[in-house]
Amino acid sequence: MQPIKHKGSGAKVIKGSIVTFCDRYDPNNPTACVRHIPKGAIAVAADGRIEWVGEASKLPADYGTNSVDDYGDKLVLAGFIDTHIHFPQYRMLAAASNGLLDWLERYTFPEELKYRSKEYAAAAAERFLKELYKNGTTSALAFSTVHTESAEALFEAALKNNMALFTGKTMMDRSAPDGLTDRAEANFDECQNLINKWHRKERLGYAITPRFAITSSEAQLECAGDLLKANPSCLMQTHLSESLGEIETVKGLFPDAVDYTDVYDRFNLVTDRSVFAHGVHLSEREILRLSEAGSAVIHCPTSNTFLGSGLFEIARMKDATTPTLWGLATDIGAGTSYSMLATMAEAFKVAMLNGYRLTALEAFYTASLGNAHILKLESEIGSIEAGKWADLIILDPNATDTLRNRMQLSETLEDTLFALMMLGDDRTIQATYVAGNIVHQS
Ligand code: GUN
Ligand code: ZN
Repeated sequence: MQPIKHKGSGAKVIKGSIVTFCDRYDPNNPTACVRHIPKGAIAVAADGRIEWVGEASKLPADYGTNSVDDYGDKLVLAGFIDTHIHFPQYRMLAAASNGLLDWLERYTFPEELKYRSKEYAAAAAERFLKELYKNGTTSALAFSTVHTESAEALFEAALKNNMALFTGKTMMDRSAPDGLTDRAEANFDECQNLINKWHRKERLGYAITPRFAITSSEAQLECAGDLLKANPSCLMQTHLSESLGEIETVKGLFPDAVDYTDVYDRFNLVTDRSVFAHGVHLSEREILRLSEAGSAVIHCPTSNTFLGSGLFEIARMKDATTPTLWGLATDIGAGTSYSMLATMAEAFKVAMLNGYRLTALEAFYTASLGNAHILKLESEIGSIEAGKWADLIILDPNATDTLRNRMQLSETLEDTLFALMMLGDDRTIQATYVAGNIVHQS
Protein backbone atom coordinates (compact mmCIF):
# COMPACT_ATOMS: atom_id res chain seq x y z
CA MET A 1 0.00 0.00 0.00
CA GLN A 2 1.21 3.50 -0.76
CA PRO A 3 1.72 5.87 2.18
CA ILE A 4 -0.95 8.48 2.81
CA LYS A 5 0.72 11.87 3.01
CA HIS A 6 -2.09 14.25 3.74
CA LYS A 7 -5.72 14.81 3.03
CA GLY A 8 -7.69 18.07 3.02
CA SER A 9 -11.23 19.32 2.58
CA GLY A 10 -11.14 19.18 -1.23
CA ALA A 11 -10.01 15.56 -1.21
CA LYS A 12 -12.02 13.18 -3.39
CA VAL A 13 -12.06 9.70 -4.83
CA ILE A 14 -12.52 9.05 -8.55
CA LYS A 15 -13.67 5.57 -9.52
CA GLY A 16 -13.69 3.94 -12.92
CA SER A 17 -11.81 1.61 -15.24
CA ILE A 18 -8.28 3.00 -14.94
CA VAL A 19 -5.93 2.78 -17.92
CA THR A 20 -2.47 4.23 -17.53
CA PHE A 21 1.00 3.84 -18.98
CA CYS A 22 4.40 3.17 -17.49
CA ASP A 23 7.77 4.07 -18.89
CA ARG A 24 8.54 3.46 -21.70
CA TYR A 25 6.74 2.08 -24.71
CA ASP A 26 8.63 -0.99 -25.93
CA PRO A 27 7.60 -2.11 -29.45
CA ASN A 28 8.81 -5.63 -28.70
CA ASN A 29 6.59 -5.86 -25.67
CA PRO A 30 3.81 -3.32 -26.24
CA THR A 31 1.44 -4.46 -23.49
CA ALA A 32 4.17 -4.17 -20.83
CA CYS A 33 3.68 -0.42 -20.70
CA VAL A 34 -0.04 -0.46 -19.94
CA ARG A 35 -1.66 -0.90 -16.53
CA HIS A 36 -5.38 -1.61 -16.42
CA ILE A 37 -7.42 -1.63 -13.22
CA PRO A 38 -11.01 -2.40 -14.36
CA LYS A 39 -12.56 -1.48 -11.01
CA GLY A 40 -10.12 1.15 -9.88
CA ALA A 41 -10.03 4.09 -7.52
CA ILE A 42 -7.88 7.21 -7.38
CA ALA A 43 -7.63 9.20 -4.17
CA VAL A 44 -6.98 12.86 -4.87
CA ALA A 45 -5.68 15.21 -2.18
CA ALA A 46 -6.97 18.73 -1.62
CA ASP A 47 -3.87 20.14 -3.30
CA GLY A 48 -4.81 18.39 -6.57
CA ARG A 49 -2.27 15.61 -6.45
CA ILE A 50 -2.94 11.89 -6.54
CA GLU A 51 -2.38 10.21 -3.19
CA TRP A 52 -3.36 6.65 -3.88
CA VAL A 53 -4.25 4.48 -6.92
CA GLY A 54 -5.40 0.89 -6.94
CA GLU A 55 -8.30 -1.49 -6.93
CA ALA A 56 -11.38 0.16 -5.46
CA SER A 57 -11.89 -2.80 -3.12
CA LYS A 58 -8.52 -2.00 -1.54
CA LEU A 59 -9.07 1.73 -1.07
CA PRO A 60 -7.79 2.56 2.45
CA ALA A 61 -10.56 3.25 4.97
CA ASP A 62 -9.14 6.76 5.56
CA TYR A 63 -10.73 7.84 2.29
CA GLY A 64 -14.20 6.73 3.40
CA THR A 65 -15.30 10.31 4.06
CA ASN A 66 -14.07 11.71 0.73
CA SER A 67 -16.64 12.67 -1.88
CA VAL A 68 -16.76 10.10 -4.69
CA ASP A 69 -17.07 10.64 -8.45
CA ASP A 70 -17.98 7.16 -9.67
CA TYR A 71 -17.76 6.61 -13.43
CA GLY A 72 -18.56 2.89 -13.35
CA ASP A 73 -17.11 1.08 -16.39
CA LYS A 74 -15.98 4.25 -18.15
CA LEU A 75 -12.27 4.68 -18.70
CA VAL A 76 -10.15 6.95 -16.53
CA LEU A 77 -6.91 8.05 -18.17
CA ALA A 78 -4.28 10.72 -17.62
CA GLY A 79 -5.23 13.88 -19.54
CA PHE A 80 -3.82 14.34 -23.01
CA ILE A 81 -0.85 16.63 -23.54
CA ASP A 82 -0.67 18.69 -26.74
CA THR A 83 2.97 19.48 -27.49
CA HIS A 84 2.40 21.89 -30.38
CA ILE A 85 -0.57 24.23 -30.67
CA HIS A 86 -1.09 27.90 -31.53
CA PHE A 87 -3.38 29.65 -29.07
CA PRO A 88 -4.00 32.73 -31.33
CA GLN A 89 -5.19 30.42 -34.08
CA TYR A 90 -7.91 28.93 -31.88
CA ARG A 91 -10.69 29.98 -34.24
CA MET A 92 -9.02 30.04 -37.64
CA LEU A 93 -9.18 26.32 -38.35
CA ALA A 94 -10.15 25.14 -41.82
CA ALA A 95 -8.70 28.07 -43.80
CA ALA A 96 -8.13 26.69 -47.29
CA SER A 97 -4.81 27.64 -48.91
CA ASN A 98 -2.11 26.64 -51.33
CA GLY A 99 0.13 25.42 -48.54
CA LEU A 100 2.01 26.68 -45.50
CA LEU A 101 3.48 30.01 -46.65
CA ASP A 102 0.30 31.08 -48.46
CA TRP A 103 -1.77 30.05 -45.40
CA LEU A 104 0.44 32.06 -43.06
CA GLU A 105 0.21 35.23 -45.14
CA ARG A 106 -3.42 34.99 -46.08
CA TYR A 107 -5.08 33.95 -42.83
CA THR A 108 -2.68 33.50 -39.94
CA PHE A 109 -0.83 36.80 -39.79
CA PRO A 110 -4.00 38.93 -40.11
CA GLU A 111 -5.64 37.00 -37.26
CA GLU A 112 -2.54 37.14 -35.05
CA LEU A 113 -2.37 40.94 -35.50
CA LYS A 114 -5.52 41.20 -33.36
CA TYR A 115 -3.66 39.92 -30.29
CA ARG A 116 -2.01 43.25 -29.65
CA SER A 117 -5.25 43.96 -27.80
CA LYS A 118 -5.07 42.58 -24.28
CA GLU A 119 -8.88 42.27 -24.16
CA TYR A 120 -8.99 40.28 -27.40
CA ALA A 121 -6.20 38.02 -26.16
CA ALA A 122 -7.81 37.51 -22.76
CA ALA A 123 -11.17 36.49 -24.24
CA ALA A 124 -9.41 34.19 -26.70
CA ALA A 125 -7.38 32.53 -23.94
CA GLU A 126 -10.53 31.55 -22.05
CA ARG A 127 -12.15 30.08 -25.17
CA PHE A 128 -8.95 28.31 -26.15
CA LEU A 129 -8.64 26.55 -22.79
CA LYS A 130 -12.30 25.61 -22.92
CA GLU A 131 -11.67 23.86 -26.25
CA LEU A 132 -8.69 22.01 -24.79
CA TYR A 133 -10.61 20.78 -21.77
CA LYS A 134 -13.60 19.76 -23.85
CA ASN A 135 -11.25 17.57 -25.86
CA GLY A 136 -9.51 16.06 -22.85
CA THR A 137 -6.29 18.03 -23.15
CA THR A 138 -4.99 19.05 -19.76
CA SER A 139 -1.51 20.39 -20.65
CA ALA A 140 -0.01 22.10 -23.66
CA LEU A 141 3.08 23.63 -25.16
CA ALA A 142 1.55 26.56 -27.02
CA PHE A 143 2.62 29.41 -29.26
CA SER A 144 1.29 32.88 -28.45
CA THR A 145 1.81 35.87 -30.78
CA VAL A 146 4.63 38.38 -30.92
CA HIS A 147 2.72 40.55 -28.43
CA THR A 148 3.62 40.09 -24.77
CA GLU A 149 -0.09 40.67 -24.06
CA SER A 150 -0.98 37.39 -25.71
CA ALA A 151 1.50 35.29 -23.72
CA GLU A 152 0.39 37.01 -20.52
CA ALA A 153 -3.27 36.42 -21.31
CA LEU A 154 -2.69 32.71 -21.76
CA PHE A 155 -0.55 32.40 -18.63
CA GLU A 156 -3.21 34.21 -16.63
CA ALA A 157 -6.02 31.98 -17.90
CA ALA A 158 -4.03 28.77 -17.28
CA LEU A 159 -3.03 29.93 -13.81
CA LYS A 160 -6.69 30.28 -12.82
CA ASN A 161 -7.09 26.53 -13.37
CA ASN A 162 -3.70 25.58 -11.92
CA MET A 163 -2.83 24.02 -15.27
CA ALA A 164 0.60 22.87 -16.47
CA LEU A 165 1.09 24.99 -19.57
CA PHE A 166 4.11 26.31 -21.44
CA THR A 167 4.00 29.30 -23.72
CA GLY A 168 6.16 32.25 -24.68
CA LYS A 169 6.04 35.41 -26.69
CA THR A 170 6.66 34.52 -30.32
CA MET A 171 9.87 36.04 -31.66
CA MET A 172 9.66 37.29 -35.25
CA ASP A 173 11.43 40.29 -36.70
CA ARG A 174 11.02 39.93 -40.47
CA SER A 175 8.88 38.54 -43.33
CA ALA A 176 5.65 39.46 -41.57
CA PRO A 177 3.38 42.52 -41.55
CA ASP A 178 4.08 45.60 -39.42
CA GLY A 179 2.52 45.09 -36.05
CA LEU A 180 3.54 41.44 -36.03
CA THR A 181 7.28 41.92 -35.81
CA ASP A 182 9.55 43.08 -33.03
CA ARG A 183 13.12 44.29 -32.95
CA ALA A 184 15.73 41.59 -32.54
CA GLU A 185 17.58 43.47 -29.85
CA ALA A 186 14.45 44.35 -27.84
CA ASN A 187 13.64 40.72 -27.41
CA PHE A 188 16.09 39.64 -24.76
CA ASP A 189 14.81 41.93 -22.03
CA GLU A 190 11.19 41.52 -23.02
CA CYS A 191 11.40 37.72 -22.92
CA GLN A 192 13.55 37.68 -19.80
CA ASN A 193 10.97 39.82 -18.00
CA LEU A 194 8.26 37.35 -18.99
CA ILE A 195 10.42 34.44 -17.83
CA ASN A 196 11.04 36.15 -14.47
CA LYS A 197 7.34 36.76 -14.05
CA TRP A 198 5.84 33.47 -15.25
CA HIS A 199 8.35 30.63 -15.47
CA ARG A 200 7.72 28.10 -12.70
CA LYS A 201 4.88 30.17 -11.30
CA GLU A 202 2.71 27.35 -9.93
CA ARG A 203 2.59 24.87 -12.83
CA LEU A 204 3.41 27.30 -15.65
CA GLY A 205 6.54 27.19 -17.77
CA TYR A 206 8.14 29.50 -20.28
CA ALA A 207 9.08 28.38 -23.77
CA ILE A 208 11.48 30.55 -25.75
CA THR A 209 9.66 30.80 -29.06
CA PRO A 210 11.37 31.91 -32.27
CA ARG A 211 8.56 31.24 -34.80
CA PHE A 212 10.81 29.76 -37.50
CA ALA A 213 13.93 30.62 -39.46
CA ILE A 214 11.99 32.58 -42.10
CA THR A 215 10.64 35.14 -39.65
CA SER A 216 13.76 35.56 -37.48
CA SER A 217 16.96 37.34 -38.47
CA GLU A 218 20.32 35.94 -37.44
CA ALA A 219 20.46 38.52 -34.67
CA GLN A 220 17.15 37.31 -33.33
CA LEU A 221 18.06 33.62 -33.46
CA GLU A 222 21.21 34.52 -31.57
CA CYS A 223 19.09 36.27 -28.97
CA ALA A 224 16.90 33.15 -28.65
CA GLY A 225 20.03 31.01 -28.15
CA ASP A 226 21.28 33.41 -25.46
CA LEU A 227 17.94 33.27 -23.68
CA LEU A 228 17.96 29.48 -23.71
CA LYS A 229 21.47 29.41 -22.30
CA ALA A 230 20.63 31.94 -19.60
CA ASN A 231 17.48 30.04 -18.58
CA PRO A 232 18.41 26.36 -18.42
CA SER A 233 15.02 25.16 -17.21
CA CYS A 234 13.02 26.81 -20.01
CA LEU A 235 11.98 24.95 -23.15
CA MET A 236 12.53 26.21 -26.71
CA GLN A 237 9.89 25.67 -29.39
CA THR A 238 9.99 26.40 -33.10
CA HIS A 239 9.08 24.93 -36.51
CA LEU A 240 11.42 22.79 -38.58
CA SER A 241 11.25 21.22 -42.02
CA GLU A 242 7.50 21.36 -42.46
CA SER A 243 7.03 22.08 -46.16
CA LEU A 244 9.22 21.95 -49.25
CA GLY A 245 8.53 25.62 -50.11
CA GLU A 246 9.58 26.63 -46.59
CA ILE A 247 12.81 24.62 -46.85
CA GLU A 248 13.70 26.31 -50.15
CA THR A 249 13.12 29.75 -48.62
CA VAL A 250 15.30 28.89 -45.62
CA LYS A 251 18.08 27.75 -47.96
CA GLY A 252 18.00 31.15 -49.67
CA LEU A 253 18.05 33.04 -46.36
CA PHE A 254 20.87 30.99 -44.79
CA PRO A 255 23.09 29.92 -47.71
CA ASP A 256 25.98 28.94 -45.43
CA ALA A 257 23.97 26.50 -43.33
CA VAL A 258 24.35 22.80 -44.13
CA ASP A 259 20.60 22.26 -43.81
CA TYR A 260 17.57 23.60 -41.94
CA THR A 261 18.51 21.98 -38.62
CA ASP A 262 21.96 23.52 -38.93
CA VAL A 263 20.38 26.99 -39.09
CA TYR A 264 19.12 26.51 -35.53
CA ASP A 265 22.24 24.66 -34.44
CA ARG A 266 24.43 27.63 -35.35
CA PHE A 267 22.57 29.64 -32.72
CA ASN A 268 22.69 26.95 -30.00
CA LEU A 269 19.03 26.12 -30.41
CA VAL A 270 19.42 22.38 -30.93
CA THR A 271 19.41 21.06 -27.36
CA ASP A 272 17.66 18.53 -25.15
CA ARG A 273 15.14 21.25 -24.28
CA SER A 274 14.32 22.01 -27.91
CA VAL A 275 10.97 21.03 -29.36
CA PHE A 276 10.72 21.12 -33.14
CA ALA A 277 7.31 20.96 -34.75
CA HIS A 278 6.88 18.86 -37.90
CA GLY A 279 10.25 17.50 -39.12
CA VAL A 280 8.54 16.03 -42.17
CA HIS A 281 11.43 16.32 -44.63
CA LEU A 282 14.52 15.79 -42.47
CA SER A 283 17.70 14.35 -43.95
CA GLU A 284 19.62 11.51 -42.30
CA ARG A 285 22.17 14.03 -41.05
CA GLU A 286 19.49 16.15 -39.45
CA ILE A 287 17.91 13.18 -37.68
CA LEU A 288 21.33 12.10 -36.44
CA ARG A 289 21.99 15.57 -35.06
CA LEU A 290 18.57 15.83 -33.38
CA SER A 291 19.02 12.38 -31.88
CA GLU A 292 22.48 13.24 -30.58
CA ALA A 293 21.23 16.49 -29.04
CA GLY A 294 18.21 14.85 -27.40
CA SER A 295 15.81 17.24 -29.14
CA ALA A 296 12.16 16.34 -29.72
CA VAL A 297 10.31 16.31 -33.05
CA ILE A 298 6.54 16.71 -32.97
CA HIS A 299 4.26 14.92 -35.39
CA CYS A 300 1.24 17.07 -36.30
CA PRO A 301 -0.65 14.79 -38.69
CA THR A 302 -3.90 16.69 -39.25
CA SER A 303 -1.89 19.82 -40.04
CA ASN A 304 0.49 18.03 -42.39
CA THR A 305 -2.31 16.51 -44.43
CA PHE A 306 -4.43 19.69 -44.36
CA LEU A 307 -1.61 21.91 -45.66
CA GLY A 308 -0.25 19.18 -47.93
CA SER A 309 3.10 19.49 -46.16
CA GLY A 310 4.08 15.83 -46.33
CA LEU A 311 3.96 12.54 -44.44
CA PHE A 312 5.87 12.28 -41.16
CA GLU A 313 7.77 9.02 -40.79
CA ILE A 314 7.59 7.61 -37.27
CA ALA A 315 9.86 4.72 -38.26
CA ARG A 316 12.71 7.12 -39.04
CA MET A 317 12.43 8.63 -35.55
CA LYS A 318 12.61 5.16 -34.04
CA ASP A 319 15.57 3.94 -36.04
CA ALA A 320 17.75 2.13 -33.51
CA THR A 321 20.91 3.92 -34.60
CA THR A 322 19.41 7.41 -34.30
CA PRO A 323 16.47 7.15 -31.87
CA THR A 324 14.80 10.53 -31.67
CA LEU A 325 12.19 11.64 -29.19
CA TRP A 326 8.92 12.23 -31.02
CA GLY A 327 5.57 13.53 -29.84
CA LEU A 328 2.06 14.05 -31.12
CA ALA A 329 0.21 17.34 -31.41
CA THR A 330 -2.74 19.08 -33.04
CA ASP A 331 -0.99 22.20 -34.42
CA ILE A 332 -4.25 24.15 -34.27
CA GLY A 333 -5.08 26.17 -36.46
CA ALA A 334 -3.33 24.36 -39.35
CA GLY A 335 -4.45 21.19 -37.61
CA THR A 336 -8.10 20.44 -38.19
CA SER A 337 -9.12 19.09 -34.79
CA TYR A 338 -8.50 19.92 -31.14
CA SER A 339 -9.00 16.27 -30.33
CA MET A 340 -5.92 14.22 -29.54
CA LEU A 341 -8.06 11.17 -30.38
CA ALA A 342 -8.62 12.52 -33.91
CA THR A 343 -4.90 13.37 -34.04
CA MET A 344 -4.01 9.75 -33.17
CA ALA A 345 -6.38 8.55 -35.88
CA GLU A 346 -4.71 10.75 -38.49
CA ALA A 347 -1.27 9.62 -37.27
CA PHE A 348 -2.38 6.02 -37.74
CA LYS A 349 -3.48 6.75 -41.34
CA VAL A 350 -0.29 8.66 -42.21
CA ALA A 351 1.75 5.79 -40.73
CA MET A 352 -0.21 3.27 -42.82
CA LEU A 353 0.71 5.27 -45.92
CA ASN A 354 4.39 4.92 -45.15
CA GLY A 355 4.49 1.38 -43.87
CA TYR A 356 4.42 1.82 -40.08
CA ARG A 357 1.82 0.21 -37.82
CA LEU A 358 0.97 2.66 -35.06
CA THR A 359 -0.68 0.64 -32.31
CA ALA A 360 -3.33 2.13 -30.02
CA LEU A 361 -1.04 1.54 -27.05
CA GLU A 362 1.78 3.49 -28.64
CA ALA A 363 -0.57 6.29 -29.70
CA PHE A 364 -2.15 6.67 -26.24
CA TYR A 365 1.26 6.37 -24.58
CA THR A 366 2.66 9.10 -26.84
CA ALA A 367 -0.27 11.47 -26.28
CA SER A 368 0.16 11.21 -22.50
CA LEU A 369 3.39 10.01 -20.89
CA GLY A 370 5.44 10.30 -24.09
CA ASN A 371 4.45 13.94 -24.50
CA ALA A 372 5.09 14.53 -20.78
CA HIS A 373 8.71 13.53 -21.39
CA ILE A 374 8.94 16.19 -24.07
CA LEU A 375 7.85 18.86 -21.58
CA LYS A 376 10.29 17.37 -19.01
CA LEU A 377 7.27 16.83 -16.78
CA GLU A 378 7.22 13.03 -16.76
CA SER A 379 7.52 12.96 -12.97
CA GLU A 380 4.51 15.28 -12.62
CA ILE A 381 1.97 14.35 -15.29
CA GLY A 382 1.25 11.89 -18.11
CA SER A 383 0.19 8.87 -16.05
CA ILE A 384 -1.91 8.01 -13.03
CA GLU A 385 0.47 7.55 -10.12
CA ALA A 386 0.66 8.62 -6.51
CA GLY A 387 2.49 11.94 -6.30
CA LYS A 388 1.51 13.11 -9.80
CA TRP A 389 -1.12 15.75 -10.49
CA ALA A 390 -4.71 14.58 -10.85
CA ASP A 391 -4.99 15.72 -14.48
CA LEU A 392 -7.49 13.11 -15.57
CA ILE A 393 -10.05 12.40 -18.27
CA ILE A 394 -13.07 10.15 -18.38
CA LEU A 395 -13.60 8.44 -21.74
CA ASP A 396 -16.98 6.98 -22.59
CA PRO A 397 -16.49 4.09 -25.04
CA ASN A 398 -20.22 4.22 -25.85
CA ALA A 399 -20.46 7.96 -26.37
CA THR A 400 -21.98 7.75 -29.86
CA ASP A 401 -24.12 5.20 -31.70
CA THR A 402 -21.20 4.38 -33.96
CA LEU A 403 -18.93 3.72 -31.00
CA ARG A 404 -21.57 1.72 -29.13
CA ASN A 405 -22.10 -0.55 -32.13
CA ARG A 406 -18.38 -0.98 -32.65
CA MET A 407 -17.69 -1.71 -28.97
CA GLN A 408 -19.98 -4.73 -29.11
CA LEU A 409 -17.26 -6.38 -31.20
CA SER A 410 -14.43 -5.36 -28.90
CA GLU A 411 -12.90 -8.08 -26.75
CA THR A 412 -9.61 -6.57 -25.61
CA LEU A 413 -8.47 -3.33 -24.03
CA GLU A 414 -6.19 -2.65 -26.96
CA ASP A 415 -9.06 -3.00 -29.41
CA THR A 416 -11.27 -0.73 -27.28
CA LEU A 417 -8.54 1.91 -27.30
CA PHE A 418 -8.05 1.48 -31.03
CA ALA A 419 -11.76 2.01 -31.75
CA LEU A 420 -11.74 5.05 -29.44
CA MET A 421 -8.80 6.62 -31.21
CA MET A 422 -10.22 5.98 -34.68
CA LEU A 423 -13.82 6.97 -33.95
CA GLY A 424 -13.63 9.19 -30.88
CA ASP A 425 -13.69 12.96 -30.59
CA ASP A 426 -14.83 15.57 -28.07
CA ARG A 427 -18.10 13.67 -27.57
CA THR A 428 -16.07 10.81 -26.11
CA ILE A 429 -14.72 12.98 -23.28
CA GLN A 430 -17.24 12.79 -20.47
CA ALA A 431 -15.22 14.81 -17.97
CA THR A 432 -11.85 16.49 -17.62
CA TYR A 433 -10.03 17.20 -14.36
CA VAL A 434 -7.12 19.58 -13.94
CA ALA A 435 -5.34 19.36 -10.58
CA GLY A 436 -8.29 17.39 -9.22
CA ASN A 437 -10.95 19.92 -10.25
CA ILE A 438 -13.53 19.32 -12.95
CA VAL A 439 -12.91 21.80 -15.78
CA HIS A 440 -15.24 20.14 -18.29
CA GLN A 441 -18.23 17.84 -18.01
CA SER A 442 -20.40 16.75 -20.91
N1 GUN B 1 5.52 27.74 -39.48
C1 GUN B 1 5.66 29.01 -39.01
N2 GUN B 1 4.56 29.44 -38.39
C2 GUN B 1 3.67 28.43 -38.47
C3 GUN B 1 2.33 28.28 -38.00
O1 GUN B 1 1.73 29.17 -37.41
N3 GUN B 1 1.74 27.08 -38.27
C4 GUN B 1 2.39 26.09 -38.91
N4 GUN B 1 1.75 24.93 -39.14
N5 GUN B 1 3.63 26.21 -39.37
C5 GUN B 1 4.26 27.36 -39.13
ZN1 ZN C 1 2.81 25.25 -35.65
